[in-house]
Amino acid sequence: MNKKNFLAPSILDANFLDLKTQLDVVFKGNNNIIHLDIMDAHYVPNLTFGPFLCGQIKNYLPNTIDVHLMVEPVDSLIEKFAEAGANMISFHPEASLHVHRSIELVKSFGCKVGLALNPSTPLSTIEEVLGILDFILIMSVNPGFGSQKFIENSVKKIERLHTMITKNSYDCQIEVDGGINDSNIVKIKKAGANIFVVGSAIFKSENITKSSQFFHNIIHTD
Ligand code: DX5
Ligand code: ZN
Repeated sequence: MNKKNFLAPSILDANFLDLKTQLDVVFKGNNNIIHLDIMDAHYVPNLTFGPFLCGQIKNYLPNTIDVHLMVEPVDSLIEKFAEAGANMISFHPEASLHVHRSIELVKSFGCKVGLALNPSTPLSTIEEVLGILDFILIMSVNPGFGSQKFIENSVKKIERLHTMITKNSYDCQIEVDGGINDSNIVKIKKAGANIFVVGSAIFKSENITKSSQFFHNIIHTD
């Protein structure tokens, strides 16, 4: 399986008073995916933004928009974000009563669909639906906050997921989210991931131009 690599910067830690400038620096003129972390102060303790911001970004940039729903329940917001221009939507299986139905709902809007797995959620949870998913989002931190430490066990989990996908010849991408930095990105790539969510290591760095370029180069170098 030879999947194309993508950098997916998360704007969670962006400077929202200077968002347009930061979006230009990180996303303009490249194929970086815009990762939007949607938190509802219910499924996770934190609260972020909604479909309105998604729609505004959609009108401003042509890049793929990847909506990571950390909300419960999921179905009503799936519809709202799809209408606001999301191209990829993932949700946590624990947050939907009928996971298969929610997957089909995402697909019915023409969006790519993924399931997001918390560090403690086993890969067996997705076995029955892996064949119909476009991507799996492996959480390498607990959902809810940026700037957390990468959980090392995630590397083995990515390797096992990669084997599951390859063995069955599924057309499913592996996205990794949480705590990615310059010292762990290479091993995450080697483990089989192909979409890399990077938040604070870009948006909290001293120079976001340099850091986004750095991560972009590293994932596109063999
Ligand atoms: C955590 C979010 C992540 C995360 C990324 O709930 O899903 O997208 O904030 O930020 P860093 O790279 O700082 O962990
Ligand atoms: Zn995320």
